[in-house]
Amino acid sequence: MKKHNFNAGPCVLPKPVIESGIEAIKNFDGTGIGILEISHRTPGWERIMKETEELWKELLNIPEGYRVIFLGGGASTQFLYVPYNLMGKKAAYLQTGVWAKKATKEAKLFGEVDIVASSEDKTYSYIPKNYTIPADASYFHITTNNTIYGTEIHTDMDCPVHLVADMSSDILSRPVDVSKYALIYGGAQKNVGPAGVTFVIVREDILGKTDRPLPTMIDYRTHLKDSSMFNTPPVFSIFVMHETLKWIKELGGLEAMYKINKEKAELLYNEIDRNKMFVGTAAKEDRSLMNICFVMAEGYKDKEAEFMEFAKSKGMVGIKGHRSVGGFRASTYNACPIESVKALVECMQEFESKH
Ligand SMILES: Cc1ncc(COP(=O)(O)O)c(C=O)c1O
Repeated sequence: MKKHNFNAGPCVLPKPVIESGIEAIKNFDGTGIGILEISHRTPGWERIMKETEELWKELLNIPEGYRVIFLGGGASTQFLYVPYNLMGKKAAYLQTGVWAKKATKEAKLFGEVDIVASSEDKTYSYIPKNYTIPADASYFHITTNNTIYGTEIHTDMDCPVHLVADMSSDILSRPVDVSKYALIYGGAQKNVGPAGVTFVIVREDILGKTDRPLPTMIDYRTHLKDSSMFNTPPVFSIFVMHETLKWIKELGGLEAMYKINKEKAELLYNEIDRNKMFVGTAAKEDRSLMNICFVMAEGYKDKEAEFMEFAKSKGMVGIKGHRSVGGFRASTYNACPIESVKALVECMQEFESKH
């Protein structure tokens, strides 16, 4: 039976990307040696590294003065890199979910943290709107897409201080005005490849402004200077990222990606709103295009396990909601085909007609 993969990350990857990953494991770049066995100083590899940064710059239309680097440690390690490198006395954070809260926790080790607003009061089901960003903060940190709760900040805001964004779960899903941000980071394992590599897009002139001593590996400048080759990079994860970026480019870039993502999300949200058995959990204006969260409606709460079994029997994978929210979450990242979303919608309709 065909499986429809709605995992929240790691998650579905484009088929052609998987194919080139398999080929590269057998024979990288015509060398007769697999990518897992080459030196990262191989000229063919250095070309892939260069092209990967160039593809990022091209797809996101990244202005002059920014670099893209590739690190290990996941987005969670960036929670500490950011204050280590950028924080003076104070930083400001918008608390829109558990990941944002974890980022805040790390920042508190380095100085004063101003949580300008939080939506914890309603299980992070909305994005706070009216808040003041302190002008004396070194930066303002946001999480653009809240993977667990299915909320998303849809616009690139104007910010009086350096804007720093965790874009782990919506990067490359839409065009972004990078010039509004001082730093953007995320784990690759949703829209840009497998786990194991973390991307950081950084405006070079914001670095080197704190007087705190920085360990070599934590200092972004180390990795800028050596183009992410100061130490051994996660070679295979970067290769798959490179192929994923090429796939996005071939599809027509981020405008095209955004159009498909909106179409997929609209299909599923329309069904959630229409179907008497389900109800969405995120505030409508803040609904994520990437993680679509819903629960059983009043009167049908006892049908949750039955729907889960039914959906499983129809090939749906990874639709269980995060334990802190319950219900269901369908992650419709870039590589999730519209056919899978249609199959889930049909499955919800069939379930409704049975009750
Ligand atoms: C928005 C967001 N930030 C951070 C993380 C943590 O990422 P990592 O597992 O790469 O540390 C996740 C993981 O799902 C996430 O969704």
